Amino acid sequence: MIDTNDNSEQDYQSLIDNPDPVDADDQRYEQIFKDLQGGIIKNYGRNYYLYIFIFFNQEKIEQAKQWIRDEIANSVTSTYKQLQDTEDYRQNLNRALDSSPEEIHPGEKCKNFFLSYQGYKILFKLENKKNVLDEPLFEKGMKSWWTRNYQTNKKDNDAESPRTWDIGGGKHEIHGLILLAHNCLEELKYEAELIIEEFERRAVGNIIACEVGYKLVDEKKRVVGPFGFVDGVSQPLFLKRDYEKYCNNQDTDKWDPKASLNLVLVKDPFGEPYSFGSYCVWQKLETDYECFKKKEKELSDNLKCDSEKAAALVVGRFRDGTPIALSEHPNQDSIKNNFNYNDDPQGMKCPLHGHIRKVNPRGEQTKNPNDDLPHLEQLKKYHRIFRAGITYFDKSKVQKSPDSKILDVCLNKLKYLKEVRKELPEDNIKNISGLLFVCFQSSIVNQFQKLQNDWADNDKFPREFSMGESKYLDPVIGHPLVKGDTKNPKPQEWFNKCSGEDVRNYPFYGCVKNKGGEFFFAPSISFLKKF
Ligand code: HEM
Repeated sequence: MIDTNDNSEQDYQSLIDNPDPVDADDQRYEQIFKDLQGGIIKNYGRNYYLYIFIFFNQEKIEQAKQWIRDEIANSVTSTYKQLQDTEDYRQNLNRALDSSPEEIHPGEKCKNFFLSYQGYKILFKLENKKNVLDEPLFEKGMKSWWTRNYQTNKKDNDAESPRTWDIGGGKHEIHGLILLAHNCLEELKYEAELIIEEFERRAVGNIIACEVGYKLVDEKKRVVGPFGFVDGVSQPLFLKRDYEKYCNNQDTDKWDPKASLNLVLVKDPFGEPYSFGSYCVWQKLETDYECFKKKEKELSDNLKCDSEKAAALVVGRFRDGTPIALSEHPNQDSIKNNFNYNDDPQGMKCPLHGHIRKVNPRGEQTKNPNDDLPHLEQLKKYHRIFRAGITYFDKSKVQKSPDSKILDVCLNKLKYLKEVRKELPEDNIKNISGLLFVCFQSSIVNQFQKLQNDWADNDKFPREFSMGESKYLDPVIGHPLVKGDTKNPKPQEWFNKCSGEDVRNYPFYGCVKNKGGEFFFAPSISFLKKF
């Protein structure tokens, strides 16, 4: 056994900087993984998720810290535990296949606790936090990021204004976020009740909101997201076991998903030498299925192609996950991910603004000739994020009136998932209300913001054409109205590749709306124990 006690901060950092996927059983990582919260380098994969948003009362800071020590620090799931549970589950599954499926245990409860910048500030009265969690966007918070980029008029009455947000737009700032995830809905409800009642009993603050998510799977057991597209296909892979499994199914010469831990982990300045954390972007994105289907049909009429193809042009993959860069048709045997856009500079296979091409250009050359430099191609890989989002269903009759108790609101939202579970997957797809988008990164500025502002919202990315202005905004998450240009929604053009005719203007966007959120940091567990 390697004695890790004498390791310096640099030793741990060099383990995190290892460019290759790491072996979960490598003892050099044990201390790091025992102190790192779970769900950051691998998804929990649970069926049900509950997010509880917290505001701490300024007058009760010492009591709030006590609450964190008692109720959070010892029960947060570590990466080490998550990986052990995954292995146990896999072994149980194999054993159960030989005997009876009832022997598969439902998986352990998962729990996380994140803090916003305002949360750190109120708990520690930190006025000048330079050099600790030195991340400008984290410090600004989501509301201010949004207002700076997208606030379109002074009257503040557009559909996505923070005034209309479900999360983070109200008078209370968000200080903390608890995530509970479980495969068993009843267990999750029980856990939710315990934690909310205890928080309220201690009166250390307010629970501002709660959101629940449900992992929707199709008949082939694939996770399905908004508008019926298979989700969670292309992710950075940090663990050797996951990477090897991936490599057994496909080549990596065109796209290699392996990633260094430093893509998502940064030193936790308040922890121990082996303590790491991650920046988390949490965003509630409301999706309108009818809007997407209508636009899909109109785009297909415009381009004279079938509507599944039109939908694939929008996302860059068919609904079953088949990349349009590789195939003109869906229904491939397995989901392919070994591709890039180098042989398609004009977007004749996959539009330049197809969602997955916008948010992961896969090293393609951009308009700037200097970008051809190999190290800049590598930099583009550095802009990747690890996604951990989940679909939500908000059609419940539960309306929050001013006097409804937050515990009842949360429990009713969870109860509604029972109804959702009863539906057929194809009916559920129509009922998806949106995506609770969650992603982890080592820098919000270089990763989430890069993808959203510099790529998805930039109509000249990845390339400006000499024949005129480029009009290529991400049709899923791009914002046609940005600050300073409120009257002229950006046009959106599509190569008419189906009929071989000219370029068509058809603005697709508008089916996804931001309903708020916040930027968080996932602190190390040893830090939570120090409160
Ligand atoms: C409701 C909103 C959204 C929908 C419906 C959506 C849908 C999808 C779908 C269907 C895929 C392909 C499957 C996969 O690789 O998992 C995908 C991939 C991806 N999305 Fe989104 N997405 C949304 C929001 C976002 C946001 C806000 C971001 C980041 C700013 C983002 C970043 C990504 C990335 C990085 C990939 C992987 C691309 C690749 O590596 O090929 N998505 N999304």
